[in-house]
Amino acid sequence: MCRAMAERLQPGATKTLKQLFDEEPDRLSRLSFEVAGIYFDWSKTHLDRDILDESLARAERMGFGAARDALFSGGIVNPSEGRPATHVAERGSGAPDEVDVSTARRQRMRALVDAIEGGAFGELTGILHIGIGGSALGPALLVDALGRRASTLTVRFLSNIDGAAFDDAVKPLDPATTLVVVASKTFSTLETLSNMDAARAWLRQGGVGDPDGRVIAVTAKPEAAVEQAIDETRILQFGEGVGGRYSLWSSVGLSAALALGWDAFEALLEGAAEMDRHFRFTKPNVNVPLIAAFADRLYVENFACQTRGVFSYDERLRLLPFYLQQLEMESNGKSVTKDGKAVQWPTAPVTWGGTGTDAQHAVFQLLHQGTIAAPVEFVAVRESDDDQDAEHHRLLLLNAFAQGAALMEGRKSDDPQRSYSGNRPSTAILLERLDARSLGALIAFYEHRTFANAVLLGINPFDQFGVELGKDIARQLAEDSGEGELDASTRALMERAGV
Ligand code: F6P
Repeated sequence: MCRAMAERLQPGATKTLKQLFDEEPDRLSRLSFEVAGIYFDWSKTHLDRDILDESLARAERMGFGAARDALFSGGIVNPSEGRPATHVAERGSGAPDEVDVSTARRQRMRALVDAIEGGAFGELTGILHIGIGGSALGPALLVDALGRRASTLTVRFLSNIDGAAFDDAVKPLDPATTLVVVASKTFSTLETLSNMDAARAWLRQGGVGDPDGRVIAVTAKPEAAVEQAIDETRILQFGEGVGGRYSLWSSVGLSAALALGWDAFEALLEGAAEMDRHFRFTKPNVNVPLIAAFADRLYVENFACQTRGVFSYDERLRLLPFYLQQLEMESNGKSVTKDGKAVQWPTAPVTWGGTGTDAQHAVFQLLHQGTIAAPVEFVAVRESDDDQDAEHHRLLLLNAFAQGAALMEGRKSDDPQRSYSGNRPSTAILLERLDARSLGALIAFYEHRTFANAVLLGINPFDQFGVELGKDIARQLAEDSGEGELDASTRALMERAGV
């Protein structure tokens, strides 16, 4: 199938976007969808009837239905680690026994939130959330997107081992009234443990008598947190089946729940559950995460696109591209199938992006006239939530839509410098409003799209062995300063840096 599609899609052999619109009068209605208050539009992509039919046949051949059932019923969808993926249970959508365990853990989390709000840790003005990768990117996105008005607490996220990041993170915080939340699935991550120790020292130097008593641990390995002198009463456990980059729904979301309030956290889960129901029960031909994956596969495999740009036309969603980088690249940046065979197709592209309109004045030159093709995704919100004249938001949205139109339409000119090829694909995602519920649905959409891509590729999206080798070598260098077998270049760098 793939070769046939590739031949048909050779430059000149495929229809342009404008031709597709001309020939398919119902194109917009067939390729736009509304789910959970979010409007999705794939009409400006090269998905046509044949490609959709071929993609649907591929989904069937790759066992999409069974894989989706396995995800929601606690099947082993992460075979290399012999585990189910239970993030869906965190929002009530998984196997009943997993949902029960998640619910019980969430009740404990809620009790802790209530206690903190009730003054169990004294007066609080700030939270220092320590964690990295999936233990930080999700909660940071939530607080940045929803906390501008809602939060009375100053919440800072600290991930990097760089001391400058620590200095930055604590600058606006008062040690006397700051709670430290340490999120780490393994509770063994170098950056997180180093920053936790530095935070304890910072509390002590700030006059806090019992720094350990101000640290809350969120982890799948409570015994490892106990070893780090954290009392069991201040440990919130989450399940081993909850992958780091899928964990914001669990107690990893504690800092967000504290900043946004418990009702908002519940609404986030409900929004995600609504998208879960759509993904789980809707037919493949109108299933938005699956259709998104069809477009993703089309551009990577048949148009040889190696990147995918995501542009948030809303300041509140400025962290979305960073969150998606981990979700998509750590999940699907693989070279072998679930069975360990070389994968047949190119897998995840590089996810990158930025915020509109700023990005228009920085990277859009390449998107409009560069020699590489990159599908672009615009994410915008119909209702604004700022104190400025409504004209700001109107212009913001119009700019997003203008970019999509310009990429598709292009403009011919006798002057090659001023000519735009057009026929460049984009997707639009328009939220009615940005609140906890719609953000939950949006993030769940991206999770399921990532899963659907993995099913079409036959790969496991839930492990991440690729990050281990670099960690091992760093550990080895930290331990023996390069006494072992080391290449000349790395040894010279270490000598020059004096490390
Ligand atoms: O290095 C990658 C990674 O393992 C991510 O998958 C994970 O989200 C991050 O590190 C942090 O791991 P932990 O939550 O165990 O500290």
